Amino acid sequence: MSVATTELTGRHFLKEIDFTRPELLHLVDLAAELKAAKRAGTETPRLAGREIALIFEKSSTRTRCAFEVGAFDQGAHVTYLDPTGSQLGHKESIADTAQVLGRMFDAIEYRGTAQSDVETLARHAGVPVYNGLSSEWHPTQMLADLLTMREHTGKPFDELAYAFVGDGRYNMGRSLLVTGAIMGCDVRLITPPQLRPPQDVIALAHELAAASGARITISDDVADVRGVDVVHTDVWVSMGESHDVWLQRATLLTPYQVNAALMARTGNPDVAFMHCLPAFHDTQTVIGREIAAATGISGGLEVTDEVFRSPASIVFDQAENRLHTIKAVLVATLS
Ligand code: CP
Repeated sequence: MSVATTELTGRHFLKEIDFTRPELLHLVDLAAELKAAKRAGTETPRLAGREIALIFEKSSTRTRCAFEVGAFDQGAHVTYLDPTGSQLGHKESIADTAQVLGRMFDAIEYRGTAQSDVETLARHAGVPVYNGLSSEWHPTQMLADLLTMREHTGKPFDELAYAFVGDGRYNMGRSLLVTGAIMGCDVRLITPPQLRPPQDVIALAHELAAASGARITISDDVADVRGVDVVHTDVWVSMGESHDVWLQRATLLTPYQVNAALMARTGNPDVAFMHCLPAFHDTQTVIGREIAAATGISGGLEVTDEVFRSPASIVFDQAENRLHTIKAVLVATLS
């Protein structure tokens, strides 16, 4: 089923279920076209004169740069507001800020913590709002992950099998579960029982799967990676959590580390490894060294350095695809 680009004009992208399966497929196809055009030097700017606000209440490399470069490639301008660069949240509410920015900009990207904040912004802005990550969902990341998995496997989404292995409570585990359920994939969420997503998210995934034909497995057994095309993981610990929490989490999740043995358990010699990044795979960062000291685990936490640097790892293709897919969202919703 095709989707006219105009059907997405003016739409928000706050969570994956904002778009239907044909709409998500259309965005992935559009991203592939834009990627090919950029490489061929034939890209046509379709967003001349558009103004986009980028609000980041948390740090970002990929998401910020993808919005900035994607907008510039298409002829739009961006204004970046860093965590201290506006009155938002300190002296002015989200609702008031939304109304101010909605008078000046054609669209707003927002990265914060609570999903309710980006939804409040969208209710009051009067222009499209994009969720650049909340604790609950990471929808723009999902478009990049879909494009990357399709490029590397060559499979249509209803023949694709992937696993998320790690902490299932946060945005990446939840988003990969629900996105695969929408797209008709074979999705395995492999996590300790106490780190599963909330029941309403699991119920949503099953409901979507009933409509799409997706196969959903929620398991605590890493043997369930058998047969997948792709293994995903995400960080186990966050800045701001205490070292005690880091140690407890690392102890709980050590059996779920993506290492050579886990990759071999897929039984698939062509299995790929994906991670939204940044990853704690070595001690070449301040936080990486701090985590290694606190947990006593070196050589990688959620993924070993060996797997991260192996030919199976497609994390940098995945990172590049943030650009092409975010650009597709901008073109589809603003042109
Ligand atoms: N994957 C991702 O969202 O990366 P950044 O935090 O660098 O934007």
